[in-house]
Amino acid sequence: MPAIVLIGAQWGDEGKGKVTDLLGERVEYVVRYQGGNNAGHTVILPDGRRFALHLMPSGVLTPGCTPVIGNGVVIDPKVLLGEIDSLTERGIPCERLMISADAHLIMPHHRAMDRVVERYLGSARIGTTGRGIGPAYGDKVARVGIRVQDLLDPGILRQKLELVLREKNQVLVKVYNRKAIDVGAVTEEYLSYAQRLRPYITDTRLELARALERGATVLLEGAQATLLDVDHGTYPFVTSSNPTAGGACVGSGIPPTRITGVIGVIKAYTTRVGSGPFPTEQFDAIGEHLRKVGMEYGTTTGRERRCGWFDAVVARHAVRVNGITDLVVTKLDVLSGLEKVPICVAYEVDGERVDELPMTQTAFHHARPVYEEHDGWWEDITKCRTVQELPDNARRYVERIEELSGSRVSVIGVGPGREENVLLHPLPP
Ligand code: IMP
Repeated sequence: MPAIVLIGAQWGDEGKGKVTDLLGERVEYVVRYQGGNNAGHTVILPDGRRFALHLMPSGVLTPGCTPVIGNGVVIDPKVLLGEIDSLTERGIPCERLMISADAHLIMPHHRAMDRVVERYLGSARIGTTGRGIGPAYGDKVARVGIRVQDLLDPGILRQKLELVLREKNQVLVKVYNRKAIDVGAVTEEYLSYAQRLRPYITDTRLELARALERGATVLLEGAQATLLDVDHGTYPFVTSSNPTAGGACVGSGIPPTRITGVIGVIKAYTTRVGSGPFPTEQFDAIGEHLRKVGMEYGTTTGRERRCGWFDAVVARHAVRVNGITDLVVTKLDVLSGLEKVPICVAYEVDGERVDELPMTQTAFHHARPVYEEHDGWWEDITKCRTVQELPDNARRYVERIEELSGSRVSVIGVGPGREENVLLHPLPP
């Protein structure tokens, strides 16, 4: 009956795909519960094939596993069908996929609004992925969203589109000087997707309840990460959903009493894409070094990621807000060969030391990192498989992460390959 949540503990791109890999065949269902095709993770199969997934839950790559797109996800049907086609062409069957009838659809007006609003915000822009995510969630909450189930009723689909476009077109044309969106063309386009998506549309919350009742293991796979959470992140520089562990229940319909473990993935340093505060960001050669060695370029947009030192204040917040039971520290190998590897242990805000995330946005913008210096290591650690094989300084660095964050570290990633890990404790379940 176990349901395990897997989340990112920083600003995203921590390498969550690696954990799905590690859990492998123990997991029978992998559920995406929020976000949309703003996410992107790369999974490398044992035969070396590399897959960049955006909407499809990573479980699609594990034989026998059922990928589920939960009610909390926003779906761009064209992107999803493209992903299904390209996976099928490469010999990965997708027919087990289940899509919640309650998930919301990303519509052309959402993509249009995402772009024009970002332009309008100018220097205050969020740096979104431009995929229409925020406007789709906005319409969901405003109760004018269009859901997957609406694809099954052409009359309703057209009626809902007419209603919502009556307002959106006024805004697009009169406020942003853009072209109006044609109701007929969009209805037709989306009905063609409906034909192909129909076999996958399911009452996923009921399916998952039955699966848990049978004793199946369900992995709830978060996209984005804790500090991008609309409630618990660096608002307004966040995504529009709840990637944190609580969001897993809401976005899948699995009750909190079913969750037996929360795995938090955290990079041995920090990265972020888009705008917003990032106290440990490095603008000099170190930032460039981390970006190059860590190959820190976005899977979805190809943007350069901002890079900096490990931030234990962020880690503590993530452990607390998600109830993390096990941390997976990824990309420790990227730090090899550096003379010093500082860890940010607290902030200084307007002359005062603070040990936790500041309460206000203003204070967070003023936060300056307080560093603890650690000596680096020169050895190549990619072949290490036990903690004893790690150089002393690398081991001490991880032990310090453990102490400062308040959660045990169960796995350390020492290279991109699926075998390149040091295992300290078995992961749940
Ligand atoms: P949106 O999710 O496209 O609305 O973008 C909002 C913020 O979340 C921006 O700063 C994006 O760069 C960031 N973001 C969205 N998805 C990801 C992701 O998968 N990894 C890292 N950052 C992301």
